[in-house]
Amino acid sequence: MHIQFSQSRPQGARLIAHVVDQGKFPSATTAAMRAGAEGARFKGNAGQTFDGFVEMGGEVVRLALAGAGDKNDEERLANLEKAGAALAGKYQSSGDEDLVLELSESGLSAKEAAAVLLGLRLRNWRYDIYRTKLKDEQKITLKTVTVVGAPDGIDAAWANAAALAEGVEFTRELVTEPANIIYPESFVERCKQRFEGTGAELVVLDEEEMTKLGMGSLLGVGQGSTRESRILAIRWNGGGSEAPTAFVGKGVTFDTGGISIKPGPGMEDMKWDMGGAGAVAGGMLALVKRKAKANVVGVMGLVENMPDGNAQRPGDVVTSMNGQTIEILNTDAEGRLVLADALHWTQEEFQPSRVIDFATLTGAIIISLGHEYAGLFSNDDELSKQLSDAGETVGDKVWRMPLGKAYDKLIDSPIADMKNIGGKGAGSITAAQFLQRFIADDTPWAHIDIAGMAWSDKPGRTWGKGATGFGVRLIDQLIADTAEG
Ligand code: BES
Ligand code: MN
Ligand code: ZN
Repeated sequence: MHIQFSQSRPQGARLIAHVVDQGKFPSATTAAMRAGAEGARFKGNAGQTFDGFVEMGGEVVRLALAGAGDKNDEERLANLEKAGAALAGKYQSSGDEDLVLELSESGLSAKEAAAVLLGLRLRNWRYDIYRTKLKDEQKITLKTVTVVGAPDGIDAAWANAAALAEGVEFTRELVTEPANIIYPESFVERCKQRFEGTGAELVVLDEEEMTKLGMGSLLGVGQGSTRESRILAIRWNGGGSEAPTAFVGKGVTFDTGGISIKPGPGMEDMKWDMGGAGAVAGGMLALVKRKAKANVVGVMGLVENMPDGNAQRPGDVVTSMNGQTIEILNTDAEGRLVLADALHWTQEEFQPSRVIDFATLTGAIIISLGHEYAGLFSNDDELSKQLSDAGETVGDKVWRMPLGKAYDKLIDSPIADMKNIGGKGAGSITAAQFLQRFIADDTPWAHIDIAGMAWSDKPGRTWGKGATGFGVRLIDQLIADTAEG
């Protein structure tokens, strides 16, 4: 979607939208429209919409009102995003290609106006490249938003928000693509294309290099697939000489479960088992596009988990890059095996000041937290607080869960240093304990289990059905809050 700014309303505009606070109507609303709004119980609540036709300068135009709620609401920015998103949801297939967003009377600050636009753009995103038979009225028609009467400072505010939108959209694209299109090598290729000319530095490890490094844990997962595994690192040095923040993502481009194969119904969902890596790639893109003044590295462990004559078996023992042995009791608990080597390599290679991993790691986190919060596990109270706060700010919410010795014991193995599953209970916690065994004691670390958040079965705040882009905004906000002067 193209967003542009203009001093005056373009000639021939047919769809003119206003963002309105609760109980307020713009001067262009006629008595008839007010009565209609009242009849429809439109009050200007956040995300409510109403429209009607009015005469303006001798022409009939559609006047759309998007409610932004109470001006003093604590969730003001979120409400403004909702208002923008509601406009996109309502008009994206309306037949209109252009929407004029009239802000002259809105009283919004640049930051607030950017929130409306961000909501509009994010909610308008849809990935239709494989839908070749859509009827005209099903296609997205909305292409341009012309903002009239934008506040001073909108250019800078929108540039930041637009970078964020690019990141979220990139994540959604990677997550939406099926597994015959996005597999480890093509994931890397897509990133190479997107980061070309941005100043970010990409490093790729192939299987030969990973074998030399001794990454038996990650390689074991990809062993049954004809697709080769990869590690991708994207580095951005926008700061000074300080150690980077590292983000690490689980990138299982398809998770059949391996020999411990998953049941058929719903298995197609496992195309988005690379949602952690997707969030890291999109988060890095957002930071790079807005030239964040911070040192950051994003590392993605990319594998496909398939059953095969060459696949690893339950009972196999593998050795990770840092020399620990792992008894594989369930080949479907593969994400932790991929992250084990990716996390260790990240610490060795980049000496980061802190490590945050994103992973669609466990079904159990959906049982615990549903689709409202991602699970947060951390060895560091300060980092936890920073992530929780950043999440509240942008709506990528995280809820801290416990770690501890007693949970850690549950993954001790009688034959190796550890086994890759715990017992019946606390499945998300034992998974996190497993990861912690690959984190140096003095490294602040957080693990974010996004299994309930990467994909949505129904439209949400700023997304339609499907990939949400969860994590991108959290990454961006954490860096803005804690690493940029
Ligand atoms: N990718 C899955 C977790 C998952 C489930 C993500 C549902 C998104 C939606 C993960 O690899 C997995 O299979 N985990 C197992 C672990 C178990 C074998 C200990 C699970 O959650 O059942
Ligand atoms: Mn699995
Ligand atoms: Zn998985």
